[in-house]
Amino acid sequence: DKGNHRHFMLKEIYEQPIVVAQTLKSYVRRLEEEVSLPIPDFDLSAIRRVTIVACGTSFYAGMVGKYWFEQFARVPVDLDVASEFRYRAPVMEEGGLALFISQSGETADTLAALRHARSEGQKIAVVVNVPTSTMAREADLLLPTHAGPEIGVASTKAFTCQLAVLAALAANLARAKGRLDRREEKEIVRHLSEAPAAINGALAYDSAIEAMSGAIAVARDVLYLGRGTDYPLALEGALKLKEISYIHAEGYAAGEMKHGPIALIDDKVPVIVIAPTGPLFEKTVSNMQEVQARGGKVVLISDYDGIQAAGEGCMATITMPKVHPLIAPIVYAIPVQLLAYHVAVAKGTDVDQPRNLAKSVTVE
Ligand code: F6R
Repeated sequence: DKGNHRHFMLKEIYEQPIVVAQTLKSYVRRLEEEVSLPIPDFDLSAIRRVTIVACGTSFYAGMVGKYWFEQFARVPVDLDVASEFRYRAPVMEEGGLALFISQSGETADTLAALRHARSEGQKIAVVVNVPTSTMAREADLLLPTHAGPEIGVASTKAFTCQLAVLAALAANLARAKGRLDRREEKEIVRHLSEAPAAINGALAYDSAIEAMSGAIAVARDVLYLGRGTDYPLALEGALKLKEISYIHAEGYAAGEMKHGPIALIDDKVPVIVIAPTGPLFEKTVSNMQEVQARGGKVVLISDYDGIQAAGEGCMATITMPKVHPLIAPIVYAIPVQLLAYHVAVAKGTDVDQPRNLAKSVTVE
């Protein structure tokens, strides 16, 4: 049932404040200001390396997770798309945790990678949205997302719930490794707890995003740029746009533009820049200005301060609530999803059932 919404995708985008809050309940104790795991006695202290494997949108969640695991827990992370993982003879030493991320829990390549990691003696953790799925059954550490059934083929609410779980898991790992003091732990809990309200704040920009979607719908190519944890978000934005609107889109690390892709820039290629204020803001803005100097039409997604500082000369701006960098990828996922959605609606494509795609990919 789509409720009052025209498509499942839009309904699921709007469910995110609630389902992210629901998911967080299993991973943070708000009153005690502690991070926790659904299996409290699972010992993470001996984990020396994490191998993350997933496909598509779940892979981009994993990419954000890599930043968090390394930043908080100082544990090195390997990251692969599942269809490449087994074929490159990955080195998995003792004391490794292999982490598989999948909305469906049935994706064939991810499942095959899980079984391979198991045969190499890794501990198996899975982040899945379907608790009865094959991956859920085969895990040592089951980390459910509580997004509820996702019907739209383009993943939206599962992605933000995956991010919430990964942030909490990174904090749990950091604590187990003695790298998180009480003050830092409390802060992480506080920031994560702010995510649902911030997502609501992001949703308030829906009609403004709809209003600018026509300008993107006429484009043949669109670029997305971001740095740090906003780089995977740029990749996710491009994937979302191409899969439901069939517009060619690419995501790049903002700093990579000058190493090639900037040659694509002219006034017909909209460039979506994801740049919350924070430690990486200035650098991203200077990459954005390189694009503008070549006639590129920029849509800047930032908070009020960021738009004030750098919004001039942009084709359009999208204002997000001001949030801590930890939850920025969770909050900035919303405008990226809404933009793809409205562009697809403007083009008249089948948003919930894009051509050539299936909700669950059970062939390798
Ligand atoms: C994109 C999308 C796909 C899936 C991918 C993995 O919107 O939905 O890229 O993310 O097929 O699926 P799961 O997460 O079920 O393993």
